[in-house]
Amino acid sequence: MSIPGEAELIHRFKGILFTTRSSPELLKSLDTFDAREDDVLLVSYPKSGTHWLAGVITKLYNTQVTLTSPIEFGDISKLEELNKLSSKRIIPTHLDYNMLPPNFKNKNCKMIYISRNPKDTAVSMYHYYRDNPNLPTIDTWTAFFDLFLKGDVVCGSWFDHFLSWEEHVNDKNILFLFYEDMKKDLPKTVKDISLFLGLKVSDNDIQDICKKSSFSEMKRNTEKENSDPNHTVCALTSNRKLIFRKGAVGDWKNHFTPKQNRRFEEIFNEKMKVSKM
Ligand code: A3P
Repeated sequence: MSIPGEAELIHRFKGILFTTRSSPELLKSLDTFDAREDDVLLVSYPKSGTHWLAGVITKLYNTQVTLTSPIEFGDISKLEELNKLSSKRIIPTHLDYNMLPPNFKNKNCKMIYISRNPKDTAVSMYHYYRDNPNLPTIDTWTAFFDLFLKGDVVCGSWFDHFLSWEEHVNDKNILFLFYEDMKKDLPKTVKDISLFLGLKVSDNDIQDICKKSSFSEMKRNTEKENSDPNHTVCALTSNRKLIFRKGAVGDWKNHFTPKQNRRFEEIFNEKMKVSKM
């Protein structure tokens, strides 16, 4: 079997890299997407804890909800497929704010944005790239580090993504969460999410959700499932080991050289000058 070339795996749309699993036709037609007022969007830059958050959110509901694959993943039939769902939809997306279908904004849909230390995000993404045949081959961490800083990775620049959403930090329909806060105090985050979504949950329920959402539990459970990648949050692989890798804060220290760290901080400080967070 031949290894697919880069052109077969990725393409650019509006300057941002997407995998070819997000067809240009779908990306072009996203503007026409018909959102529903009760849709909940789960927004993240890749490798920020999307699966973790999705696991928590779906457990919070005791009514039927459908967790879809990311809205930007698939071909043109995707919109029709989402249209047909009769239950409440939890829709993940890695799109930056400017590319989000306008209907979600006009209808004030609830959106939860999860962010993670970009150094750990870069390391997580490196491992994901390295072991995933659906993404271009990466030879070394050093090579990936440069691509990440330039934003030449799928979903574009971490900085642009974060800043595009951060502009909306005061919008009432958007809740900002941090991976590191979830690691520190998951019950508090679960409580915050339930309040934001207007869901009544008891302290016992929260404890139960936290137990079921621990890294080891989630890893064990998803390894048992035989999931179809077209219908999971991570639409690029059915290999759960790629998603539940380490689940730690600070793994960047095992990868960054002191020089890389200095360079990262310089670029971070420059790009994030406009950030209020
Ligand atoms: P690592 O590669 O650093 O281990 P995403 O879901 O956005 O693709 O993010 C994947 C990252 O979230 C991976 O990071 C993964 O291990 C981590 N993760 C997934 N579930 C987790 C959990 N229950 N607790 C902590 N981290 C989790």
